[in-house]
Amino acid sequence: MVSDPTPAGSTSSRTAAFAAFEEFSLTYDTACTPSLTRLSLDLYGDQLTLVTGPSGSGKSTLARVVAGFVPQLLRGEIEGSARVLGHDVESAPLHAISQSIGIVFDNPFDQLTAATRTVFDETAYALENEGLPRAEIVSRVREALDSVGLAEVAGNHPRRLSGGQSQRLAIACALAQRKPILVLDDPTSQLDPTGTAEVVSMVAKLREEHTTVVVVAQDLRHWLGIADRLVILDEGRLAADGSPAALLAEPGPLAAKVMIPRYVAIWAELRSRGIGSSDTAPLGTDQLVASLHASVRSGD
Ligand SMILES: Nc1ncnc2c1ncn2[C@@H]1O[C@H](COP(=O)(O)OP(=O)(O)O)[C@@H](O)[C@H]1O
Ligand SMILES: [Mg+2]
Repeated sequence: MVSDPTPAGSTSSRTAAFAAFEEFSLTYDTACTPSLTRLSLDLYGDQLTLVTGPSGSGKSTLARVVAGFVPQLLRGEIEGSARVLGHDVESAPLHAISQSIGIVFDNPFDQLTAATRTVFDETAYALENEGLPRAEIVSRVREALDSVGLAEVAGNHPRRLSGGQSQRLAIACALAQRKPILVLDDPTSQLDPTGTAEVVSMVAKLREEHTTVVVVAQDLRHWLGIADRLVILDEGRLAADGSPAALLAEPGPLAAKVMIPRYVAIWAELRSRGIGSSDTAPLGTDQLVASLHASVRSGD
C-alpha cells in the first residue's frame, strides 16, 4: 500500500476514530467474491476524507458500511471487524448509527421517498418523522434548499425534477437532518460543472462548521482543495492513504487507477523536466498557477 510518511488520518491532534475497520472483509449475500478485502482503516472526526478508486473498487460499499446500511439492510458475510461510533456494524441496529451519520446514496432515486408531493415536503419528511416542531422544520428545510439552490422549486413535485435537481434534493434531505457526520457517495455524478462547484462549496462550509464529511468521488478535480485526507481503494483493498498533495505527488502504479486531475498532471510533467521545486502536488488550478509564478520569479 502507498502511504504518506505522516498519514493525514493519524495526526495526534485528531479526535478518536468514529469508524474503525480491522482486517474487515465483506461479501454480499448475492455475490461470490468480497467487495471489501482485509480493510484496516480508521476515520476521524472533524476531517474531510475523500475516498476514490476505480469503478467497482468498493467505495460505495465502504460508504454504506460507515452509514450502518451494510450488513443491516444489504446483507453480507463479514470477516474481521468494523466499529462505527463504538458499535459493531454486524450487530448494531441501523438507527444506532443512522441517528448520527447521514448518507447521500450514489443514486438519488434510491434516496427519495416517493411519499411526498413537493420538494419542500420531501426535505421535511425525515424531520417530521423525528417529531421536530413545525417552525424548526420550516427553517431547516428553507436553509437546506437554499444551500443546494432548490429554493425556487420548493413547490414542485419531486418526480418532475431533473437528475441533477434530484441529486441536490437528496443532499438537501441529508443536510436538513443536521447530523454531525455526513457520507456523500459520488454526490455530483449528475451535476454540471456549476452544480458541482456549488455542492463542493456547500461541503466546504459544512467542514468549516465542523461537520465530519466522507466524500466518495472518482473525479477528484473539485474535491482535492478541501480534502484533509485521501483514501484510495483498488479491488476492495486499501491501496493508499494519506494527504492528497503528498499522495498525488508520487502516485506510482496508482496513477493508472485514479483520475489524476489535469492540474496535477501538468505539474508532474513540469517537475519531470526540472521545472518547479515543490514536492507536493497542487490541489487546484490556482495552486498550479501560483507555483508556476513562483518558479518563473525564482528563475527555475
Ligand atoms: N448490493 C450488492 N450486491 C452484490 N454485489 C454488490 C452490491 N453492491 C456492489 N456490489 C459489488 O461489489 C463490488 C464493489 O462495488 P461498489 O462498492 O459499488 O464499488 P464502487 O462504488 O467503487 O464502484 C463490485 O464488484 C460490485 O459489483
Ligand atoms: Mg459507487
